[in-house]
Amino acid sequence: MNFDLTEDQLMIQQAAKEFAEAEIAPTAVERDKNAEFPKEIIKKLGELGFMGMMVSTDFDGAGLDTVSYVLAMIEFSKADASVGVILSVNNSLVCYGLEKYGSDFIKNKYLRPLAKGEKLGAFALSEPEAGSDATQQATTAYKDGDHWVINGMKNWTTNGTSADYYLVVAQTDKEKAHHGITTFIVEKGTEGFTHGVKEDKLGIKSSDTCSLMFENVRVPEENIIWEVGKGFNFAMNTLNGGRIGIASQAVGIAEASLEASIKYSKQRKSFGTEIANHQAIQFKLADMAVKIENAKLLTLKAAWLKDNGKKYVKEAAMAKLYASKIAVECALEAIQIHGGYGYVREYLVERYLRDAKVTEIYEGTSEIQKIVIARELLKG
Ligand code: CAA
Repeated sequence: MNFDLTEDQLMIQQAAKEFAEAEIAPTAVERDKNAEFPKEIIKKLGELGFMGMMVSTDFDGAGLDTVSYVLAMIEFSKADASVGVILSVNNSLVCYGLEKYGSDFIKNKYLRPLAKGEKLGAFALSEPEAGSDATQQATTAYKDGDHWVINGMKNWTTNGTSADYYLVVAQTDKEKAHHGITTFIVEKGTEGFTHGVKEDKLGIKSSDTCSLMFENVRVPEENIIWEVGKGFNFAMNTLNGGRIGIASQAVGIAEASLEASIKYSKQRKSFGTEIANHQAIQFKLADMAVKIENAKLLTLKAAWLKDNGKKYVKEAAMAKLYASKIAVECALEAIQIHGGYGYVREYLVERYLRDAKVTEIYEGTSEIQKIVIARELLKG
């Protein structure tokens, strides 16, 4: 077994780290405070090829593997988890699905600009009454000539106000339950398609999340992804890769928590010595490091399985389940190590906790990950 990263993977990791430190970290606190979308940063990440990392060069992507994507996601999320989720949605929920299941028309018209970062994508599955129970789609679409007409509402859409292209899941034949669900691409500005206000969230405040409203929105037939009735399978297959992205985001937050804790514990003194010399602190640092290593290994393994054409449904769910759990734990420990200073904005770690919590919720809650894992186990 070889755990070495390739030269290309190391290069991507280094490039992401340098960009994150120079361009993302310095303004992260301000963006969090003002809930400001990192527009310029996303533009630059697009120019550098990070918005379509796994898309083949044939469709203007960077042609990299999922392992490189994980490494880059960790670095970006370490600096700002909001940037991480914006990137994750565009790469793994939007670009991946379009390349794998989209027609040539869709790939040429929509995937190319998304992969270059000229346009931004969003993934609209969740609804007010359909979160974990995602088959219960109330959004409908019916055929009218060579168009489909969408009506309904979506919730919790990441990149909701900023995206240009939205992958929208809708019920097209209720009789067929989840085999009667279809996914469409809807362009911003299409008549009848509007969005709500940005949600005022606990964390990842500079990523924008909102509801979407569809009132007789007409979408051409060629904007169907994969085929009629395959929309739910499309969403599930795409979310497996998305979960690797969110696991990486969680690892990034956990690493940031550990790094901040190491730095602080070498500076802060109590009882006549740096707190790093107290066993109480050392035990916390050691526990955090072991958890992070485990989470990283799970995430990289899921990515490696995906890159090598092997089944990765269970492993992606395991990676997300575990990495999100330890991100919250590591952020909490980081606050504890910082004491009172951990509770104020100046020391960053309170943001890590606020940002970490959502990784246990979106792209499938921890409880859903357990269902996915158990079902895979029981398949035998
Ligand atoms: N991978 C591939 N296919 C899957 C799958 C997976 N992980 N999980 C389920 N499926 C498939 C099944 O194989 C089945 O397909 P067929 O009938 O064609 O064989 C179909 O989906 C239905 O599966 P079930 O009968 O198991 O359906 P269920 O209703 O009992 O459970 C579920 C399905 C796993 C709970 C699913 O609803 C689910 O994953 N829910 C969570 C949804 C989610 O992650 N939402 C996040 C939205 S995105 C977001 O967070 C916002 C954002 O912008 C980031």
